[in-house]
Amino acid sequence: MDRHDPTRMQAIDNAWPEADALVYDAGVKARTDHLYEKVKSVVTPMEWPLHAPLIDAINRLKVERDAVILAHNYMTADIFHTVGDIMGDSLKLAQEAAKTEARVIVQAGVHFMAETAKILSPEKTVLIPDERAGCSLAASITGANVGAIREAYPDYPIVTYVNTSAEVKAYSDICCTSSNAVQVVEAIAAEWNTDTVILIPDEYLAKNVASQTGIRILTWKGSCEVHEQFTVEDIEALRAAHPEAMIITHPECPPDVLKAADFAGSTGAMAAYVKDHQPQTAILITECSMSDNVAVENPGVNFVKPCNLCPHMKRITLRGIYEALRDMKHEVHVDPLIAERAKASVDAMLALPSLGKPPAFDTSKPAVSIPYVSV
Ligand code: 13P
Ligand code: SF4
Repeated sequence: MDRHDPTRMQAIDNAWPEADALVYDAGVKARTDHLYEKVKSVVTPMEWPLHAPLIDAINRLKVERDAVILAHNYMTADIFHTVGDIMGDSLKLAQEAAKTEARVIVQAGVHFMAETAKILSPEKTVLIPDERAGCSLAASITGANVGAIREAYPDYPIVTYVNTSAEVKAYSDICCTSSNAVQVVEAIAAEWNTDTVILIPDEYLAKNVASQTGIRILTWKGSCEVHEQFTVEDIEALRAAHPEAMIITHPECPPDVLKAADFAGSTGAMAAYVKDHQPQTAILITECSMSDNVAVENPGVNFVKPCNLCPHMKRITLRGIYEALRDMKHEVHVDPLIAERAKASVDAMLALPSLGKPPAFDTSKPAVSIPYVSV
């Protein structure tokens, strides 16, 4: 059957039962045992029979719907390692969303990620398993706020973190992620021939970037509700309790937390660091599920987990993914005019030379104090 035949999906629409009617039978067991092997260090044998029927159904539905699942590093291991097709940090997911040939993208992540996928692939159907999966950073700023900043600072380029709405991206000059923020700031400063760049809305990411570059940075008072909670006292207590551990942080944490750590970078950089260094013990200062996902791939590393849950990421469940794919529901739409302008900002970021392995923030560099924009 032609994968692009519109009647194809019609024919299968009613074939799938309610989630509660899916059972763990011999067929499901046979089709999923190899996946349990993969995650058995972080998913108990008691849990598996609850997950496996959904995992099996999702993997079969993906083929019927010609769908791929983009899974962010903060998804639980039962999603990340068993139904995810493309897994990684925000930059990798955006890059892959632009490339995929599948007709349907399911975003196992938060709403701004699904919007980014839609902006990059407007012809595809993009689904988000739970429309309430937001982000405290995305909620901290509006397009009108960015318009006001533009009016107040017409000579400075505006870089927005991808953790923002499509509307905010549409008002910006270029986007960045935690993987490429320093590169983006330096590239746009050179392009505009300026020594000052506006980097919004995460004040901590902006401060951490400012410590890595000679470019002057102005920012906005937004923050990630997960990473802002970590303190330097937490790091000191962890250091005292686990002197052998490598402490690895995310740049959405406050600068003094980064300074007290051994390494800082995007979630992709954090995972790569563990893979390359194989520390005896690793402590990931970030969202909880990340440690489990990295642990699965690094069986020789012991993980201490002083983590915080992202309530938005945790809205995404196997059941939600199954129901979204079964009913083709929670489709993400972006106003075409906004999408076109937002795409220019995302494309400007994606057009920069690839950095290969996601780079680290140098945690030994001195902290820099930076102002907020005044609008
Ligand atoms: P990265 O995966 O790009 O590091 O971002 C972390 C994050 O908080 C995404 O919401
Ligand atoms: Fe937003 Fe923080 Fe959750 Fe990422 S971890 S989605 S930045 S609230």
